[in-house]
Amino acid sequence: MPTISKSINDALNAQIALELSSAHLYLSMSAYSASQNLPGAAHWLRLQWTEELAHGTKFIDYIGERGGSVTLGAIDEPVAEFDSLTDLFEQVLQHEQKVTAAINEIYGLCVSEKDYVSQALLQWYANEQVEEENSASEVLSMLRRAGDSGAGILMVDRHLAQRAGG
Ligand code: FEO
Repeated sequence: MPTISKSINDALNAQIALELSSAHLYLSMSAYSASQNLPGAAHWLRLQWTEELAHGTKFIDYIGERGGSVTLGAIDEPVAEFDSLTDLFEQVLQHEQKVTAAINEIYGLCVSEKDYVSQALLQWYANEQVEEENSASEVLSMLRRAGDSGAGILMVDRHLAQRAGG
């Protein structure tokens, strides 16, 4: 017998598809950055790709722990071309805002169904979204300050190369 409701199970399955679509988007963005000779951005986005894969698999593991069923949905085809690195990071931020809204929606569902264990999991994701939006905003503000300056963009790229972890 599953210990999560069908509605929460379905919402989590939809979220897995969104997390894996996020991974795919960042992998595409990483490849674009590499093609533009921006290795720091390519590195930063490749790490983001691995984080999104981890977000997706964390939901998969959780559904398993609660005796639910995992159904993988289709992954969205990612954008492959961007006007600039600033345009790319604007899209990163917009995408993360969309993910935050989706997480909040599921959190609300867990609250309405009084599923306290799932709420604890969603709280982890909500905190993660604060970090993700903050880091995208930080990069974006550096890029906006750099404007069209090639030297400025290279400095931001060097900064992005410092990102640690995975
Ligand atoms: Fe897993 Fe960037 O949201």
